[in-house]
Amino acid sequence: MKKEMIFKFDNSLINKKYILQQGRKLVPLISEINNSLKYEYNTNYAFLHSLLDKTLLQKIEKLTKKHKKIKNILIIGIGGSNLGTIALSEAIKGKLNNQINNKKIYFADTTDPDYLNSIIKILKNKSILVNIITKSGTTIETIANFEAIIKYLKINKKYIIVTTDYNSTLYHLAKKKKFTVLEIPKNIGGRYSVFSVVSLFPLSLLDIKIKELINGALDIQRKCLNGNIIKNQAAISAIILFLKRKPIYDNFFFSNDLESLGKWYKQLLAESIGKNGKGITPIVSIGSTDLHSMYQLNLDGPRDKFTTFIIINRFNSEITMNSKNFKTKKFSLILNKIAKAVKLTYKKKNLPFTEIILQDKSEYSLGQFLQFKMFETIYLAKLMNVNPFDQPAVELYKEEVKKLI
Ligand code: PA5
Repeated sequence: MKKEMIFKFDNSLINKKYILQQGRKLVPLISEINNSLKYEYNTNYAFLHSLLDKTLLQKIEKLTKKHKKIKNILIIGIGGSNLGTIALSEAIKGKLNNQINNKKIYFADTTDPDYLNSIIKILKNKSILVNIITKSGTTIETIANFEAIIKYLKINKKYIIVTTDYNSTLYHLAKKKKFTVLEIPKNIGGRYSVFSVVSLFPLSLLDIKIKELINGALDIQRKCLNGNIIKNQAAISAIILFLKRKPIYDNFFFSNDLESLGKWYKQLLAESIGKNGKGITPIVSIGSTDLHSMYQLNLDGPRDKFTTFIIINRFNSEITMNSKNFKTKKFSLILNKIAKAVKLTYKKKNLPFTEIILQDKSEYSLGQFLQFKMFETIYLAKLMNVNPFDQPAVELYKEEVKKLI
């Protein structure tokens, strides 16, 4: 049985009539995207093609097999180059993967000397594979971390994999030094790269079932490309966000291991929509942690937020109590009842929200979630009349840093 993600919008407090009205604006874009599929990697929607790229999968499988004995993976990259991998590794293997599993993954992104020294301490004298990932090949933090790791850990070049754009400065350096190079297709931008070699290779090394991720993404993609708006949930979600005009969008996950998925989404929304004086500020909440922190503000503060609750139907494991103090004895049920109570309070206060129900935290379910959110973002950008694929402000800071360092 397919584990379909469910999207509910009955508490969005938006009438279907208005959704359909706005939906008309999205129909030409939906046709354009459908049409773009035949141009493979040659349009802005290139990220959809990597799901169909069999050569890519074969290449990743071959390289994973070659390095199957590796127990420690170090990813050097920042922003779109590592957020998807962090999100999925934590969601699937758990936030505490490195404490409990044999295969461990570490991430070096910013140039914080204390953090990098800790990573160096952990990895000293261990067999590691380093995957440096940078689309531009010039991001200061990434290049600096790479140089430091080479200096301090003396990695054999057999265990260095460089993921970058064809022809970037790093690409040429890697070729010269005979490192293995994985090319990022030119038209796939950082925040849309989770189903490309950027994330698929490190996830595959970590024994994550990348084919299942892709299946989930492809299955939901068909629905996200439906020109009949009322059946297109990504379009509906975008329209609701647009019509609500709330400055803050809270993705409220009732699962600890999904916090970094929220961070992945934060980049997607912030960089895709935040431009030309427009934008929606994404925030991430964790149930039930943030009920003891943000909830007071959410319920009783300014009515400036729209919320999506993300609920997991089946957890990977269970904790059961013997206690007589609780009617409900299973932890998964307690958490989901807490979520239910929160939704009731939102309803009582007339606070608008939508819901996403993931059947579990499998690759298939997460593939659906990621793809849904990428479509939702592109549709929202269309409604807000901004380009979802550029990030001029990020480039601005990069230029300034280069002058200073
Ligand atoms: O979305 C983006 O394009 C950026 O946030 C990049 O992902 C980030 O700046 C890292 O860039 P690069 O992969 O070129 O090192």
